[in-house]
Amino acid sequence: MPAAVEIAPGCLWWSGWLDRVRQEALVAELRDLLKEAPLFTPRMPKTGKPFSVRMSNCGALGWVSDEIGYRYQSTHPETGRPWPPMPAVIREAWRTLAGDAPEPEACLINWYGDGARMGLHQDRDEQEFAAPVLSLSLGDTAVFRIGGTSRRDSTRSIRLESGDALLLSGPSRLAFHGVDRIVSGSSTLLNGPGRINLTLRRVHAIGAAPEN
Ligand code: SIN
Ligand code: MN
Repeated sequence: MPAAVEIAPGCLWWSGWLDRVRQEALVAELRDLLKEAPLFTPRMPKTGKPFSVRMSNCGALGWVSDEIGYRYQSTHPETGRPWPPMPAVIREAWRTLAGDAPEPEACLINWYGDGARMGLHQDRDEQEFAAPVLSLSLGDTAVFRIGGTSRRDSTRSIRLESGDALLLSGPSRLAFHGVDRIVSGSSTLLNGPGRINLTLRRVHAIGAAPEN
């Protein structure tokens, strides 16, 4: 396993954690999974403004956003069907990198097409902040920005490449983060430009009955 670099307290970055063969296998699994749970365009709470990133989920719970607000739910907002199970390689990544955290309940699938970005935010819709958030990147490189737990804290940016894993744990679990831009055409993994990011989360409090 490649060594992790701690870019901020509790924020661990494994460059090239998934090798090319495992990246290709995971992309093939995700393509099938997205037929079952198609990408949808989330909307901002209240205003209904569409996100530039399209999303889907796998696992017992999925993160969704619309005029009503941000939340986790067990069904796809458009098809009404349960989310498909998480591919084994994703669960294995969590077991290897997330320490002794209980099983993840949600895996958000973000699709960044042309011009997509994600503003600076905290992941705080979960009941459990002791468990980390684990991110896996596939496809084009992202210029990823991370700061502290206050929006006013200084930030730094790193380039997340295809196969990279990033863990937000401990003091970085509630760090502000976002994606400034995607470097279009920087990877040959997908059949064209774009980036997939997977984030694995534990939603319910540790000790509460897991949804899996
Ligand atoms: C997220 O914060 O949900 C996604 C981060 C990323 O795309 O790297
Ligand atoms: Mn996030």
